[in-house]
Formats: sequence, structure tokens, C-alpha cells
Amino acid sequence: MAAREIIVAVTGASGAVYAGRLLRALLQDGHRVHLVLSQYGRYLLIEELGYAPDLESVVEFLNRLYGDRVRRGSLHQYRVGDLAAPLASGSARIHGMAVVPCSMKTLAGIAHGLSTNLIERAADVTLKERRPLVLVPRETPLSLVHLRNLTAVAEAGGTLVPAMPAFYQRPGSFDDLGDFIAGRVLDVMGIEHDLYPRWQGPWREPQPPAVTTPP
Ligand SMILES: Cc1cc2nc3c(=O)[nH]c(=O)nc-3n(C[C@H](O)[C@H](O)[C@H](O)COP(=O)(O)O)c2cc1C
Repeated sequence: MAAREIIVAVTGASGAVYAGRLLRALLQDGHRVHLVLSQYGRYLLIEELGYAPDLESVVEFLNRLYGDRVRRGSLHQYRVGDLAAPLASGSARIHGMAVVPCSMKTLAGIAHGLSTNLIERAADVTLKERRPLVLVPRETPLSLVHLRNLTAVAEAGGTLVPAMPAFYQRPGSFDDLGDFIAGRVLDVMGIEHDLYPRWQGPWREPQPPAVTTPP
């Protein structure tokens, strides 16, 4: 499919694997990624996936992590404090935005239209331009404050893909779990992928061939 311009924001909730697998999938399929890491999103990439920002770019990190080439697409990175970046304007040619994973703090900022940093502003722009905005929130248990903020984003047109992978596809690794959530994010955005096997209906016992009795 044609290359898309996608904003990916990584914030400080556990679940960096979801961001890693989404970035890998988008870049492998030739899409153009506009990446914003919050301070704690960067920290979670370091803690959970071993990103070494002083030694490598994000693309080099993904290649090292997944052992395959993700250079078909392109990745442009922006500072989270750069409110003058192109992404801060509705005039930027953007297909959609994913916040993966999405902390309760960033969720609150988006739900209330705060735009205090580039992630919140780009999400605000995505909503007002009626482009797909997908949040992957991760927190447990959820307070009433969290639930109200989730509802506010859904009412404003955002889609919530909670970090709740399924198990019917029998995941064998963390990457499989990451691919399931990454695939659900891409489904919402209408971007083709083969990150997880689609549900084909329940497994059934093979039936013996019908016995035909002679007349
Ligand atoms: C190791 C670690 C794990 C965290 N996990 C979560 C989490 O799963 N969900 C969440 O909402 N906040 C989590 N937090 C707290 C957020 O990182 C914190 O609220 C931060 O201010 C979020 O800022 P950001 O949204 O700008 O990244 C975690 C923090 C740390 C240090």
C-alpha cells in the first residue's frame, strides 16, 4: 500500500515492546514515521528494551534489537518540547497518530486539550483534524479519573487500544504480544499488515468421512 505519514509518540508507561514492534512494522512496510519520545518514554525504552541513546539512533536500535533491516521507511525524530515542529500544525500532511504506550499523565493532557508538549499538541491537532488518533493506555487498576479521561478521548473521536493482548493466537514470545497490539493499532488506522493471525473460528475435531451404505 502507499506510504503513510504516521506520528508515533512513546510515553512513560510500561510496555515499550508495543512501541518497538509498531515502529518496526511501520518502517519495514515503507511508511514515514514522525517520532516523539517523552522524557519517560525514552526512559522506558532504555529500561525495558535496552535502548542506548548515547550510542545509537532509534533506527540503529531497532535493527540491533530485532536483527532485521527496518530502513525501507524513514524516521524523523522531534524533541518533545518543540512546539514549533511541523507536527504542531494541522497543515502537516499526516495520516494519523498513535501514542504507544500512553501514560495516564499524557492521557489526561490529551483528554483536556492541554497541549503542554509536542505529544499533547499533535494529539490535539489529530483530533481537531478528525484524523485517526489511537492511544494504547497501560495502567492497572484504573481510577475513576483514568476512566473519565479515557471516556473523554473516546467522545472526542480517539480510539483506545488498551495494552491487553489476546491469547487465542497462542503467542510464543513478548514480540508476539507486541505484534498483536501493534497490529490492532494499524487496523484502526486502516494500514495493512500481517502481524498476527486473524481469528478463523473455533478449532473443530476433524470429522470422519461419511459412510455410504450400499442400496
Ligand atoms: C518504570 C516506570 C514505569 C511506569 N509505568 C507506568 C504505567 O504503566 N502507566 C502509567 O500511566 N504511568 C507509568 N509510569 C509513570 C509515568 O512515567 C509518569 O506519570 C510520567 O510523568 C509520564 O510522563 P509522560 O506521559 O510525559 O511520559 C511509570 C514510570 C516509571 C518510572
